[in-house]
Amino acid sequence: MLDAPCRNPYVLSAHFVRAVHRMTMPTKPILIAPAPELRKLCTPVDAVDERINRLMKDMLDTMYHADGIGLAAPQIGILERVIVLDVARRDEPSAPMCLANPEVLWASKDTSTHNEGCLSFPDLYADVTRPASVHVRYLDQDNQSREIEATDLLAVCLQHEIDHLNGVLFVDHLSKLKRDMILRKLKKGRKGAEAA
Ligand code: NI
Repeated sequence: MLDAPCRNPYVLSAHFVRAVHRMTMPTKPILIAPAPELRKLCTPVDAVDERINRLMKDMLDTMYHADGIGLAAPQIGILERVIVLDVARRDEPSAPMCLANPEVLWASKDTSTHNEGCLSFPDLYADVTRPASVHVRYLDQDNQSREIEATDLLAVCLQHEIDHLNGVLFVDHLSKLKRDMILRKLKKGRKGAEAA
């Protein structure tokens, strides 16, 4: 079983945590593609100090408010290697994870395909194929080096968020045809929002 090293201030169900956050203001605005920050290579943090801890908390609040399961710092315009996620099902206790300088040490040869979305691509989803399991090393909230073995949704989410730190977006894993289709829908969606 995976540990959830992020100090969990929420002893309630994932569903309740998300519902409460949706009723509050988002902590930070989430950048929408094609924001240039989403294409930048992020820099490693020197250490997980008070500032990075505050960033992690802001990111968790922002992610829950948007009802996402993962968020990377560049999505709120911070070009540092920090990600947060919570892949707990709605009926499970919430399980926030905060990772600094995450790196994939090993990825399985076998792959799995999952329907992915991204908070920077509102309401757009596509099937993405990635390694089915990964080993990831990172610094936790207490600046301790940790390693986890991830499968299933956690593996998907970790790879998606780590991609963000390298300026890679989930649409980059699609065929040009599918990618263009999503980018067209994104543009259309934005025009609709501007008109509204
Ligand atoms: Ni994303």
